Amino acid sequence: MKVAVAGKGGVGKTLVAGVLAEFLVRKGFKVLAIDADPAPNLALTLGIKLDEADRIVPISEEKELIQSKTETGFAGVYRLSFSVDDVIEKFSVKSPYGVNLLVMGTVKSVDQGCTCPANAVIRALLRHLMVARDEAVVMDTEAGVEHMGRGTARHVDTMLIVANPGVKSLETARRICGLAEEAGIRKTFLVGNKVANTRGEQAIREFAARNGIPLFALIPYDNVLLKADMSGETPLKYSDSKSLATIHELGEELLKGLDQ
Ligand SMILES: Nc1ncnc2c1ncn2[C@@H]1O[C@H](COP(=O)(O)OP(=O)(O)OP(=O)(O)O)[C@@H](O)[C@H]1O
Ligand SMILES: [Mg+2]
Repeated sequence: MKVAVAGKGGVGKTLVAGVLAEFLVRKGFKVLAIDADPAPNLALTLGIKLDEADRIVPISEEKELIQSKTETGFAGVYRLSFSVDDVIEKFSVKSPYGVNLLVMGTVKSVDQGCTCPANAVIRALLRHLMVARDEAVVMDTEAGVEHMGRGTARHVDTMLIVANPGVKSLETARRICGLAEEAGIRKTFLVGNKVANTRGEQAIREFAARNGIPLFALIPYDNVLLKADMSGETPLKYSDSKSLATIHELGEELLKGLDQ
């Protein structure tokens, strides 16, 4: 299972990615969570303490690693073929809940003319994680649609697009959905979040029906999550939260889909 979580800024991508990753660990999977947001904060959601999270160096900034993979000894000439299967063991961080976390850092677009070695390593790594390894992968992506152009989520099999009841986040969801289809992602689902009342629920249901995007889950708003965030706690502590319960149900549905 290779899942990417996308959506407009602040809709709840990191919450969904973190809670889903921990759920899959409890289901017996080996789980790799990838933080592909240039402003990474999945570590805190996974329960990693702030000082440890601060010490994590994103892969794109691991100069020695990048040099060792791509250098040829000739200035300006990089190796384009290298193995990355050792990177996870060396650079992932284990969360207290058993999720392995890999923080990618900034991935620039090849279309923007960036062929720098850091990008080559990250692209090779993402590809390897998605196609060559058998653990469950949950990727938290950058807000908005731009990262789709960078192909960060190209190799995933499932895209969860998180949206809140507002028009703006739904519009962003629609654009991401179109790009996910173009990228050939097999399963793309809408996940409504911060649903506080029936009006909000209705708005998301109507949007999904109008645009033909399968609605996968409606996660209720829960104040406890905002409080947890404000006090720097992991939401995973609040396993009885109704929002977490809905994300767990979403996880169960994804697992059912594996058998089909
Ligand atoms: N169902 C919910 N109920 C209440 N608060 C929520 C819910 N989902 C997310 N939040 C809160 O909303 C805020 C944003 O959530 P989160 O960081 O997961 O969003 P994001 O999409 O990853 O944001 P960014 O685009 O900045 O990465 C956090 O304070 C989080 O606790
Ligand atoms: Mg986030």
